[in-house]
Amino acid sequence: MTKAEQQQAVAILVPGHFNDHAVGRIDGAFSRVWIERADPSLVTDEMRRTVRGIAAFGGITAALMDALPKLEIIANFGVGYDSVDVRHAAQRGIMVTNTPDVLTEEVADTAIGLLINTVRELPRAETWLRDGSWLRNGNYPLSRLTLRGRHVGIFGMGRIGLAIARRLDAFGLPIAYHNRRRVEGLSYDYHPTLKGLAEAVDTLISVAPGRASTERAVNAEILSALGPNGVFVNIGRGSTVDEPALAAALASGSIAAAGLDVFADEPNVPEALLAAPNTSLLPHVGSASQHTRRAMADLCVDNLVSWFSQRRALTPVPETANLQARS
Ligand code: NAP
Ligand code: 8YV
Repeated sequence: MTKAEQQQAVAILVPGHFNDHAVGRIDGAFSRVWIERADPSLVTDEMRRTVRGIAAFGGITAALMDALPKLEIIANFGVGYDSVDVRHAAQRGIMVTNTPDVLTEEVADTAIGLLINTVRELPRAETWLRDGSWLRNGNYPLSRLTLRGRHVGIFGMGRIGLAIARRLDAFGLPIAYHNRRRVEGLSYDYHPTLKGLAEAVDTLISVAPGRASTERAVNAEILSALGPNGVFVNIGRGSTVDEPALAAALASGSIAAAGLDVFADEPNVPEALLAAPNTSLLPHVGSASQHTRRAMADLCVDNLVSWFSQRRALTPVPETANLQARS
């Protein structure tokens, strides 16, 4: 068998509905195995014997990994891999890859759009035009809030946080940030605590990853520190926010408005956030252009190709970066 024929025989499990371009490339390079969802009870004996890789939109549990003894690599479609049990993967010597960088600028663009929509109420103004209110009632009311004079704090100054900061620099807005560690050589004000950041700014953009250390980090105390002129935007993960506390802060005027692309239990959005007049809501579309999803699909599959042809991953997550391929 040639090397290409050997690779073509490698079984890659693709649970549920996946990206079309990624599926086309997997079909061209490997032997694709499909199950309806990433559920270990759907794994057949043949899958148990043959599956060496998974390509998925996250949702990979320890139980699914354990149902697949030959599994070597999980190629996650997305930079956030909070729904892959990466600790278990590392313990079992399974490589996990993600799709950093190729989506950074798209997600930063979306964050800026969401911030402006939230502050200047553009989706509501468009509805005013489309539903005939402009004709019937005259001009859309002046927006209560403005970006002018705002001080922005970024929670999670990583790849996407930095791309958001670069855009806001061009808007002339001062920027500060909170990470666990100061970013060397970055001149923005650093706050070692999220509370300190929230006290120093009036506009908080969260682009922090979902993980135990960020779980519900944006809570009533942080929102209250942001203040009554405060605007909160979340483009990171819904799990980083205490959603009932956010809904309460929006209702009481403890903060002024929120723009959310991500939610704790997607696609379920709490009724209190849907009903609030001071929210701008998006259905997790941060990276959702055809251009960027194709680049993510390519990187997801390139990781599988590199793993099975060169025995190395292109973009391993930090937790499995030091894993060596079993010959
Ligand atoms: P990244 O480069 O790894 O940046 C993450 C940043 O968060 C790092 O600077 C990290 O700094 C900080 N961080 C991590 N844990 C923290 C903690 N406990 N407290 C404070 N800061 C913490 O990742 P990225 O590429 O910018 O992506 C960030 C996240 O955006 C992803 O994980 C994903 O959840 C989300 N995302 C959402 C969409 C969307 O469609 N809405 C699209 C893409 C990505 P330290 O390590 O120094 O703390
Ligand atoms: C995608 C994302 O929506 O990359 C991420 O972490 O949240 C988004 O780009 C998702 O990963 C693919 O469905």
